[in-house]
Amino acid sequence: MLRIVLGLIGLLSCASAHSNSVKVKWIDGTPEYLAGTTFGIPWPRGQHLANATTFTASGDAQLQSWVTAYWPDGSLKWTGHALGVSDFPSSEYTITASGPGNSTSPRFKRQSNGMQVSKSGNEIVVDTGKISVTFPRSGNVLVSSIKTSSKTVGSNGRLILRSQSGTSDDDEDGKTTGIEYFSFSSKVLNVTVSEDNTVRTLVTVKGIHTIDGDGTQEDWLPFTVRFYLYANSEAIRVIHTIIYDGDMYKDFLSGIGIRFDVPLSGEELYDRHIRIAGVDSGLLSEAVQGVTGLRRDPGADVRSAQYNGTLLPGNSTWDQRVTTRLQWIPTWGDYRLTQLSPDGFNLKKRTKAGHSWVKIPGGTRSGGLTYLGGATVGGLAVGLRDFWKKYPTSLDISSAATETGSITMWLYSPQAGPMDIRPYHDGLGEDTYAKQLDALEITYEDWEAGYNTPYGVGRTNELYIYAFDTTPSAAKLSTLTNNTNNPPVLVPEPEWMRDTKAIGSYWDVPGVAGDSAQAQKIEDNMDFLIKFYEGQVEQRRWYGFWDHGDVIHTYDDDRHQWRYDIGGYAWDNSELSPDLFFWYFFLRTGRADVYRLAHDQVRHGGEVDSYHLGNFTGLGTRHGVQHWGDSAKQARIATPVYRKTFYYISGGDERTGDLVREVLDVDKAFLLVDARRKVRDPGVVYTPNPEALYLNFGTDWAGIAQAYLIEWERRGPRWEESRDKLIEAIKTYPELKNGFVTGEALYNSLTGAWTPPPTDPNNSGNVTVSHLSGVFGVLETIDQLMDHFGSEQNITKPFFDAFLDYCYYYGASKAEQKVRYGKDFGTLNLKQGHSRYTAYVANHRNNATLVPRVWSEYLGDGSKDGLAPNAPWKSERIDGSDVLVPVDEAKWVSTNAAALYGVAGIENLALVGAPDFSRIRGNGTVEG
Ligand SMILES: *[C@@H]1O[C@H](CO)[C@@H](O)[C@H](O)[C@H]1NC(C)=O
Ligand SMILES: *[C@@H]1O[C@H](CO)[C@@H](O)[C@H](O)[C@H]1NC(C)=O
Ligand SMILES: *[C@@H]1O[C@H](CO)[C@@H](O)[C@H](O)[C@H]1NC(C)=O
Ligand SMILES: *[C@@H]1O[C@H](CO)[C@@H](O)[C@H](O)[C@H]1NC(C)=O
Ligand SMILES: *[C@@H]1O[C@H](CO)[C@@H](O)[C@H](O)[C@H]1NC(C)=O
Ligand SMILES: *[C@@H]1O[C@H](CO)[C@@H](O)[C@H](O)[C@H]1NC(C)=O
Repeated sequence: MLRIVLGLIGLLSCASAHSNSVKVKWIDGTPEYLAGTTFGIPWPRGQHLANATTFTASGDAQLQSWVTAYWPDGSLKWTGHALGVSDFPSSEYTITASGPGNSTSPRFKRQSNGMQVSKSGNEIVVDTGKISVTFPRSGNVLVSSIKTSSKTVGSNGRLILRSQSGTSDDDEDGKTTGIEYFSFSSKVLNVTVSEDNTVRTLVTVKGIHTIDGDGTQEDWLPFTVRFYLYANSEAIRVIHTIIYDGDMYKDFLSGIGIRFDVPLSGEELYDRHIRIAGVDSGLLSEAVQGVTGLRRDPGADVRSAQYNGTLLPGNSTWDQRVTTRLQWIPTWGDYRLTQLSPDGFNLKKRTKAGHSWVKIPGGTRSGGLTYLGGATVGGLAVGLRDFWKKYPTSLDISSAATETGSITMWLYSPQAGPMDIRPYHDGLGEDTYAKQLDALEITYEDWEAGYNTPYGVGRTNELYIYAFDTTPSAAKLSTLTNNTNNPPVLVPEPEWMRDTKAIGSYWDVPGVAGDSAQAQKIEDNMDFLIKFYEGQVEQRRWYGFWDHGDVIHTYDDDRHQWRYDIGGYAWDNSELSPDLFFWYFFLRTGRADVYRLAHDQVRHGGEVDSYHLGNFTGLGTRHGVQHWGDSAKQARIATPVYRKTFYYISGGDERTGDLVREVLDVDKAFLLVDARRKVRDPGVVYTPNPEALYLNFGTDWAGIAQAYLIEWERRGPRWEESRDKLIEAIKTYPELKNGFVTGEALYNSLTGAWTPPPTDPNNSGNVTVSHLSGVFGVLETIDQLMDHFGSEQNITKPFFDAFLDYCYYYGASKAEQKVRYGKDFGTLNLKQGHSRYTAYVANHRNNATLVPRVWSEYLGDGSKDGLAPNAPWKSERIDGSDVLVPVDEAKWVSTNAAALYGVAGIENLALVGAPDFSRIRGNGTVEG
């Protein structure tokens, strides 16, 4: 209980004692290969003036720095940093900020051996010192050439898209009639390049897919492809984003790819090399014209050089029985690896089109990298991160026996058959709200015609391109395969991040709350949940083009199966914030496995579960069988609170920056979509109007507030408007008689002001409390807002008081609620998840008498609808004929409960310290 007082003192003293130096460490251990990396660092308020601070890295490492967020006083809140290439990366770096008057540090530490960027009207050329890459400003090609110091090793880098107007699976006889097939290529519309290019250059190419010279097919599927190049690097990191803007009944995607040509002319066919990543560090090593395994032996040196990818000895040194007969040895121009499932890939090759493929023994999970090139002409390797996890994928090498070969990385494989993203059922006759609500009672699906659309959802993939003067060794390519799938990640130490208060003051590192056995038990349980979900992703094969990064909502005990096919119980779409559990668990531990879980989720939820085009832009979709299927389109799913940690610790990942900014416009979607249209009292007449949107403060406003906060922090183009709307909201919300307990009210999206709801025009005080309001990041957003405002308590105090009242009364007795608000809140659930509200008010009002209530809600009575202390806390193996494949199950776990157990566990420990278990009985209830 002392923790509350001590905790506050602790935070104050930490902030003032902040150092100018921050240690950043690799989450995965020191990488063996570093082609540059970008990371973020938070700073405490007031410590460094943004326009007067420079940064250096220990060991003279090359560093480029920029500001990603500001405190309101103009001091640094978050910075982004690019660290250069290194053959011998350090195990950690110290980043030092130097303020004005510090003559020991130069203003900018620019290295002259860095990048060169030249811009002309037609193109942008980036020279890293190792490779030079040309980006045309228009046309079909995104990258016209990739050159090493002496050779062009890649050209015509372009996107390819295939689609068809129908799919044949409706035809019993397998015949397809009337289906048209289309092949689109990229059309570049806009190319921009970063301003500061000391260590890192970013080229952003925006465009659309087109059929040249074709007037009948409209351009579609807009893309943004970002190319990150680091000084002295041979590698290009590519972030590839598409948005689906087709008609799901007519536009069936059948191939999404990126293709590079590889010039091979002048290279002997036996000196041309193919490499394809297999399983773990495995690699297929072949030559277009093989000289091994023949009836006549050209000589051991010749064979081993070919296998190793080095230039063959002069042909005069070979056994002439081979050199005179080379024309009889077939050349293999085409290779194809197809990963149509997460469990296996097939591999084959052929001499050329029109001839049979020959099978090559395949494997399970390909590393998703391929190389084509020659011993003297050099070549190109292209890799796709999480290749097998994003199945169906494939990679092609084509025409390797001609003057120009090519590599195609298929993000969606043409071998998989057309992608069918139509609704999975016909609507079941649910043509009225009454029927839809009744259906919700049985499958928990909230269906409505017209809402089950993928129009506007996106997908982002990460690729790496590596350029070489000569064919690299197999070991090097294995290393690059690993780099592609596990790009090195640097993060500041958890204690540093916590003390800055730049990302919430409601989490702490393990152990600080007291190393009691009881706190340890909570830590162990959270660890169990993290590992359980990591294991379920693998065992349940939660992989695939759209699905990778999501988990499922609820378990079906009878089938020993998650309810992947049952309405609102299927894909989770961030319901009740598993994102916050995973990200805060990562922040406090720095664990690499947790980072990956959270990273994959942020790339999924931000893209697939949210809309980026059309009427729903800025909204996300409630959980369901298809990520976009449910008719509840909600800001609570798209809320930037789920992306924020990644955005800042990645140094401002630009794609995530776009996603966060989109939510600024969610007010336009609120005009078109009334989230509570089916459940509102029919007596309430509501016509959406920009000056009077009928919103819930937790599920709607919290999302837009987080978007405003980030825009303000970033000082983005709309930061002043965003700040002003936040201030207006904060001033006006407490004027509602019952504050947050009002639940829903009218929001003026032009000013940010709140006014009473239509059900209470005279502001006599509504009581509308929903268990859902508080479980989509509103507490976390408000806490971050209060930290951001800092001492501006004249503005924030009434608002914060109203919020703390909500925190207090949600879990208070009905009698207390009635005394305070004139009526009680009815029967509420999600008590365990809301224990963090009690902990929050206990901490902020320094009210130690509330601490037993916190733990009663988390571990005692309140845990009955969550994960109770006496739950099994282990999984059980199910195998044999009971299941398709052996699995571990934990029937007592639902994703809702796991998310809330995690978020509340982390926050309770941080806010009120370890539970006093002497008062807790064996069955988990709290005495007294
Ligand atoms: C792959 O890279 C990660 C991250 O740098 C590293 O921890 C791991 O040891 C590497 N694995 C192999 C097989 O090289
Ligand atoms: C730096 O920023 C501060 C606060 O925003 C401002 O007062 C000052 O003029 C700026 N100095 C320079 C050199 O831009
Ligand atoms: C000045 O730079 C030195 C060396 O980098 C560093 O130790 C010191 O903390 C800096 N002082 C300030 C005020 O930034
Ligand atoms: C390209 O994009 C930039 C940044 O969004 C914008 O300022 C510029 O006007 C665009 N140029 C063209 C030709 O569309
Ligand atoms: C080729 O590689 C093998 C092992 O991978 C090695 O034993 C052999 O010496 C290498 N040959 C050449 C010519 O580099
Ligand atoms: C050996 O290579 C040279 C140059 O590539 C070629 O002209 C010659 O015909 C080759 N000799 C034989 C015997 O194949």
